[in-house]
Formats: sequence, structure tokens, C-alpha cells
Amino acid sequence: MSLWSKKNRIVITCGKGITPFLNEEVLSLGLPILSEGVAHVETEGTMFDAMRLNLLVRTGHRVLFLLETFHAKNPDGLYEKISRIQWEDYIPEDGYICVTSTVETPTIQDSRFANLKCKDAMVDRIKRKCGRRPDSGPKRDRTVIHLYWKGEVCFVYLDTSGEPLSKRGYRKIPLRAPMQETLAAAVILATGWKGDRNFVNPMCGSGTLAIEAALIALGRQPGLLKSNYGFMHLKGFDESLWKGLKKKTKAVSKKSLNWKIIATDISQQAVEAAEKNAATAGVEQWIEFKVCDYSDTPIAEGRGIIMLNPPYGERIGELKELGPVYKGIGDFFKKRCNGYMGYIFTGNLDLAKQVGLRTKKRLLFFNGNIECRLLAYDLYEGSRKR
Ligand SMILES: C[S@@+](CC[C@H](N)C(=O)[O-])C[C@H]1O[C@@H](n2cnc3c(N)ncnc32)[C@H](O)[C@@H]1O
Repeated sequence: MSLWSKKNRIVITCGKGITPFLNEEVLSLGLPILSEGVAHVETEGTMFDAMRLNLLVRTGHRVLFLLETFHAKNPDGLYEKISRIQWEDYIPEDGYICVTSTVETPTIQDSRFANLKCKDAMVDRIKRKCGRRPDSGPKRDRTVIHLYWKGEVCFVYLDTSGEPLSKRGYRKIPLRAPMQETLAAAVILATGWKGDRNFVNPMCGSGTLAIEAALIALGRQPGLLKSNYGFMHLKGFDESLWKGLKKKTKAVSKKSLNWKIIATDISQQAVEAAEKNAATAGVEQWIEFKVCDYSDTPIAEGRGIIMLNPPYGERIGELKELGPVYKGIGDFFKKRCNGYMGYIFTGNLDLAKQVGLRTKKRLLFFNGNIECRLLAYDLYEGSRKR
């Protein structure tokens, strides 16, 4: 059976703690959940489903299509088993391959050695079968193979994403301490935001939260912003099928929004970067930008979400100076944001206590290795702490 018609297991990796959101996205595409871990979800489908996942999920990083599973005790065993896979059916002999891996096996200390063995076995086989071999190296812009080797069990995947999906491509100017795009999307999905109320984002930095909020509200898939995927560099890739999928996806996105998205920052440089990033993402006309202190952010009339990702002292800002800032955010919420749901995304719970409001919910996230919380505040009159 050809690669493009067979059904197999598909692993979608994600940031630590994002699994529940990715889970929901996968289910909403009509695909089953076979298993899940701290940083991945496993489903089942065809390469066409892998293409859909690449295009349609907001919170996943890599879509890995399982090719083979086998046992290998040592590097020579790996070479031998990898040599048996019909690579000439999948990879063009004039192509380029990159092998990545996660290795937890006693006979290998450095995963790069496993990558090398795997790559050698692949190119040697293709040379034997086709008379020439593809180039190889660290670039992930063409065919990418992922090896997961635990104990004596090896899983060989086609990394259908190539460059990770977290690199949406719109953040040309990231500034300092930006949130990863997939994390920003998960944090927004956690609020239930669907574009049916206002979204206000003071301290917007490079604009990631406001941009992801606009993309979600418009029903625009971030995958449309990326033009190169790993699956495009496999034999048998049907470009017209991919174009059709993109066309269908574009057709269902909204052309206008009824509610406001507002993004502000005290730094003019940040607002300029956020504006440029929003333009690259194609959503600049849906976001109102302003340079101002967070406390002067215009609050649109009606119901809405107000979300801040203030500095939390790990990377920028000093802890001492930040205490009054967090207290100020609490005052700002109380005085100016009545009727809104307030959210603070922070990696410092001591600082968060300075906000002085009762939290309605506290959700655990990770920004890289930093444990973070999304704190939710219901900003109706009675929510104030006594
Ligand atoms: C952690 S960064 C936000 C990063 C953003 N989520 C992103 O993805 O790029 C915090 C931002 O708060 C801004 N900021 C700090 N103090 C501020 C204040 N008093 N009023 C408004 N913005 C402030 C900084 O300029 C910085 O851009």
C-alpha cells in the first residue's frame, strides 16, 4: 500500500502542559485520541490527515507520521533495521534529509550518533537502489525523519511538519521575552475566546497574544502562513490536493469582526514591532495599537477579555520594581475593567499575590522551562478581596 493511502499512528508534539488543548483540536478534526503524554498527543490517520493537522492545529509543534517500529539493541542493529525500510519509495534521490531523534537507550550516549547511523543507512540504501544518494544535514526545510528510541524499541517517523509549526513565520521582530506562538494560542483557547467579545491586551510586547486572538476570532489557520512543510518533500506529494485543502480552509474564515481587539505597550519599539508582526500575519486591520502605560489602555465598551503577560522577573524586569506593577494591575482591573474577565499570565506566583484579587481559576502552563500560571479574575463588582 502506498504511503499516501495507508493509515498509521500519528504523534503530534506540543509544549509541556498544552496537551488538553491539542487534544480538543485533534478531536474537533474528527480524529481519535489513542494516547497522550505531557508534551504529545497520539492519533491515527493517513498522510492526508497529517496534512490537515499541519494546517489546522494551533497548539501542536510537529506532526510525526509513524513509518516503522522495530527492536534494535545497538547502533549496528539500528543501521540494519533502518536499511530494510524502502526509503527509495519515500525520499527523492536528489533530495535532502535531516534526521532528528530522542534517544534513551544504554548503548548510545549522544543522540547525534543515532542520527548519523540512521542517516547512513538511509542514504546507503537509496544509493544502492537508485544509483545516487540524497544530501543530508541539519536543515529541516526538506525531508525530516524522526527517530524515537527507548530501550530496545525504535519508532521511525516522517516529520511531516519539517520546521516546527510553532514558528508561524509572522514574528519577524520578536523583542525580549516573547511568548511562543503555540503557547499564546493555548492560553487564549483556555479562556474560551471565540471572537464573540472584546479582547484587550496591555503589555503586548511583540503582539503574540493579540495576533493569535485575531487569528482565532477570524477562524484563520496559522498553518496558512507557513509555505513549506516536510510532507511536500516526500515522493507522491499531491500539490493539487494540498492547494484544495488550503482553499477550503481559507473559504471558511471570517471576513470581519464585530468586537474590538486592542493591544498596547509602554514601549514604542514594542508597539512598532507588534504592528509589523500583525501585518505579516495579515491581521493588522483588526487590532488597534497604542503606545501607553497599561493603566491607560482604552477599554472597549461591552463584555470582553483583558489579558496581560507582565514581566515576571525571570528574564526581564526586577522583582522589587515589579511588586507595585502587579498591585497596580489589580487596581486597574477593579477600577477600569468592570464586566470583563481578567487574565494574567505570569511565571511568578509571589508577584501574582500582589494583584490582591480573588482568582476564579488558575491554570498551569510552561513557558520553556518556566512554570507559569494563567490566573483568571471575574471582574464583576463582588469579586474583590476584602
Ligand atoms: C513579558 S513582555 C510581553 C511579551 C508578549 N506576550 C510577547 O509575546 O511578546 C512584557 C511587556 O510589558 C511591557 N511593559 C512593562 N511595563 C509596562 C507598563 N507599565 N505599561 C505597559 N507596558 C509595560 C514591556 O514593554 C514588555 O513589552
